[in-house]
Amino acid sequence: MQNDFKLLQLLADGRFHSGEDIAAQSGITRSAVWKKIQSLKVLSRLEIQAVSGRGYRIPGGIDALDRQQIDSLLQAGGLPVERLEVVHHIDSTSQYLVERREQHRDGTECCLAEMQTAGRGRRGRNWVSPYGKNIYLSLARWINRPMFGLSGLSLVIGVAVATALEKLHLTGISLKWPNDLHLDEKKLAGILVELQGEVEGPVRVIIGLGLNIHLAADSRQQIDQPVTDLASHFKNLPSRNVLAAGLIAEISGMLDRFEAEGLKPFVEQWNRFDLYRDQAVSLLRVNDRVDGIYRGIDAAGELLLESPQGIAAYNAGEVSLRKS
Ligand code: BTN
Repeated sequence: MQNDFKLLQLLADGRFHSGEDIAAQSGITRSAVWKKIQSLKVLSRLEIQAVSGRGYRIPGGIDALDRQQIDSLLQAGGLPVERLEVVHHIDSTSQYLVERREQHRDGTECCLAEMQTAGRGRRGRNWVSPYGKNIYLSLARWINRPMFGLSGLSLVIGVAVATALEKLHLTGISLKWPNDLHLDEKKLAGILVELQGEVEGPVRVIIGLGLNIHLAADSRQQIDQPVTDLASHFKNLPSRNVLAAGLIAEISGMLDRFEAEGLKPFVEQWNRFDLYRDQAVSLLRVNDRVDGIYRGIDAAGELLLESPQGIAAYNAGEVSLRKS
């Protein structure tokens, strides 16, 4: 299957390639090329045009992920990761790293995919992950802290992602507690943090990031909340490789600092990106809801809500936040 995707690499330049050329380069017949294109169209949901006399092309091409380029950018920035994998097609990059728990006790593992067939979101939701358009990134490493010392970790990752984008001049991004990234009050990216290990530590953290870059209409229809993508807001976007390298570097740099110092040094940065600060909000619980004024976060990363009864703290497992 991964091999079939090589054909997409050939078409990534957006130009026409004749069936004959593709057949010769892939060592298959022209009718086998046609069949492969049909199955890739279904699987990737990419538009692949077939024009008689000219061949096949992907209009606009694909800004393909390139492991070597990402690796070189990370090396040049002085923050290389020990293991970096880029795959065409996977169920979920996070699931993949969850299953590799016993493989490495040291360093950082990263997995990026062009598409996911079972991308996971928070609260058991699915993460819509079409081919070649967005970033689906997971990063895993062991952290020498007990589990209770990891409160606030997901907020730190939000700060890392917003900072990485800002460094690439993609500004105006906010964080909706605990860690959704918003642009223009619509969801731009989501973060999923999973933990493995003993309660007393060390703990293996698996961080999953889905960042919308080009979200087509059919993908938007599958998502049950207002969503946006970078392409709707910025004209000159960096390549996905530059974005991926910037994100990995920032996340792993901030993880190092979080391991040593906890959430404290990040609270001020979090406040800078905070979306609903001092606004009227509702916190939804399983059976009820609490209304009040959102007063930011405390030192543990819990949400502070002011109501006539006073200020109370809520953690991300018990409530979800909505603007009133
Ligand atoms: C959310 O629901 O807001 C979190 C979404 C996290 C999605 C990313 S995409 C890469 C990684 N692999 C997954 O299966 N999920 C995360």
